[in-house]
Amino acid sequence: MNATPPPSPDVAAMRRQYNLGVLREEAMPADPITQFTAWFRDAVSAQILEPNAMSLATAGADGRPLVRTLLLKNYDAQGFVFYTNLASRKARQLKENPHAALLFPWLLLERQVVITGAVERLSMADTVKYFVTRPRDSQIAAWASRQSAPLSSRQVLELEWEALKRKFAAGEVPLPDFWGGFRVVPESVEFWQGGPNRLHDRIQYTRHGAGGWKIGRLAP
Ligand SMILES: Cc1cc2nc3c(=O)[nH]c(=O)nc-3n(C[C@H](O)[C@H](O)[C@H](O)COP(=O)(O)O)c2cc1C
Repeated sequence: MNATPPPSPDVAAMRRQYNLGVLREEAMPADPITQFTAWFRDAVSAQILEPNAMSLATAGADGRPLVRTLLLKNYDAQGFVFYTNLASRKARQLKENPHAALLFPWLLLERQVVITGAVERLSMADTVKYFVTRPRDSQIAAWASRQSAPLSSRQVLELEWEALKRKFAAGEVPLPDFWGGFRVVPESVEFWQGGPNRLHDRIQYTRHGAGGWKIGRLAP
């Protein structure tokens, strides 16, 4: 038995001040992708572990949200791209309700970015273009997992993996027809920077007119 009490999630040491930076409306670029690029570069420079890891929140027809971590694989003015299994829970939810939220938790820099938007499937051509760049084992792994389906044991997964390694021992690994990419087309992008005395900066971009963005400040 371990007699040490578990750490409280609200230990005094965690009541820290945020003071690494500020966000001022007049200094923000006109579009959120430019700002995201600057912060993503900062996250990489700060050696944040997996700076492209993000939470993806979705809800299907039953309205019950689910959230999980994914890796951002590409982004540009069109949106934020990830890849996944098309039979997974998230893919099923996105089919029922093609809207999602993304969250980048860049806590080392006292920052978060929250993106909301409609979600669209990537074309097969774009998916293949990405799939062929993946390491061979990752390509085979895409075949090996019926993601989010109940699995009777770890051994079942490992046997499947070994069988697929033999099957795809030579030649190119084809794209599974149950694997693909999605793009979150941003409707709003919020940049959060922690401030002293909990007076945090929250600058939100929302779509405005054709190709434009409105910039506003939200209360912390
Ligand atoms: C750091 C990290 C990166 C991940 N990247 C992906 C990813 O890019 N694609 C993916 O399908 N699952 C990824 N996962 C696994 C998902 O979090 C999740 O377990 C899986 O996609 C099943 O989710 P679902 O049942 O809600 O569909 C990642 C998990 C972690 C912790």
